[in-house]
Amino acid sequence: NIYNDDFKLGTALLVNEIYDPNGPDAQLIKKHFNSLTAGNELKWDATEPREGQFSFSRADQIVDFAMNNGIAFRGHTLIWHSQTPNWVFHDDKGNLVSKEVLFQRMKKHIEAEVGRYKGKVYAWDVVNEVIEPGDKQPGGLRNSPWYQIAGEEFIEKAFEYAHAADPDAKLFINDYNTDMPDKRQYLHDLIKRLKAKGVPIDGIGHQTHIGIMSPSAFQLDQMILAFTDLGIDQQITEMDMSIYTNDSEAFDTFPEDLQLRQAYRYKEIFDVFKKHKDQLSAVIFWGKDDLNTWLRTFPVKRNNWPLLFDERLQAKYAYWALVDPSKMP
Ligand code: G3I
Repeated sequence: NIYNDDFKLGTALLVNEIYDPNGPDAQLIKKHFNSLTAGNELKWDATEPREGQFSFSRADQIVDFAMNNGIAFRGHTLIWHSQTPNWVFHDDKGNLVSKEVLFQRMKKHIEAEVGRYKGKVYAWDVVNEVIEPGDKQPGGLRNSPWYQIAGEEFIEKAFEYAHAADPDAKLFINDYNTDMPDKRQYLHDLIKRLKAKGVPIDGIGHQTHIGIMSPSAFQLDQMILAFTDLGIDQQITEMDMSIYTNDSEAFDTFPEDLQLRQAYRYKEIFDVFKKHKDQLSAVIFWGKDDLNTWLRTFPVKRNNWPLLFDERLQAKYAYWALVDPSKMP
């Protein structure tokens, strides 16, 4: 097994991977991971596509699979600018709704979703990617409809509603590129401000979608260190490692030298995670195998090999580097 006592070790999955709860995908998940995240099934467009019409059957299948197999479950995600239906922000004339209406909709949605899985979800990504993206110089919160309608208050309300619906779940703010100094500093100060106001925020989720060359293990070390003074929980929530350094590369096969580079890089990074086991409560991969990965469709359609198991569910060097380095060439 990849996991040990240091932190939970998880993967995201899509419901089709467990349609057969004893099929090869499900078996692999049960054998290697002790935390699961639904890749899409708990996002707003999946669970409340039209106002007041909730559809939880796909999410239920994943949560039930986790519970039936004694696997912890992590909820992703309540408030995001993406995969949120348009009706959430608009009235029937197509204008942005008032803050009051938005908060009512948020409250109903969060109560329904968090309430349904109360006691089954150990951590929720309450807000996802609320910082202005790094390529535009992070200078504040992302200019999403959430922000346009309610300013920073939408974050406070989201945490309050989630906490009321399940006081025992740990509540996270989740984002990517949290190793970038400007963005990391902004997030740090935001969390500090929210905590000072009494907002029930428990932790920061570092997505950690990284590349074959960067960020370095040292930069990831700095990323975790930057938040320790806040005394909050930290989790690696969506880890994977693209093998490319730019958007125009595309390989037919995975070159051996890159396979080894990827494996030793994973090892080096996990050594950093282990060093911080007192701050880090979970390390979650964004998928288990190189066939079921968003990186085969984003930023372009191409092969990619970012995870621990290959397209045929065989363990890669990346897996052995973490589990038993003596098996490495
Ligand atoms: O299920 C439909 C399928 O029926 C249809 O034929 C196909 C054609 O486009 O689309 C399928 O839905 C896709 C879905 O993934 C399932 O594969 C959506 O188009 C696609 O947009 C969706 O992408 C997801 C993406 O979030 C959306 O923004 C990825 O699976 C999911 O891995 C990704 O996850 C995000 C995290 O939530 C937040 N952090 C970044 C991470 C990676 O982008």
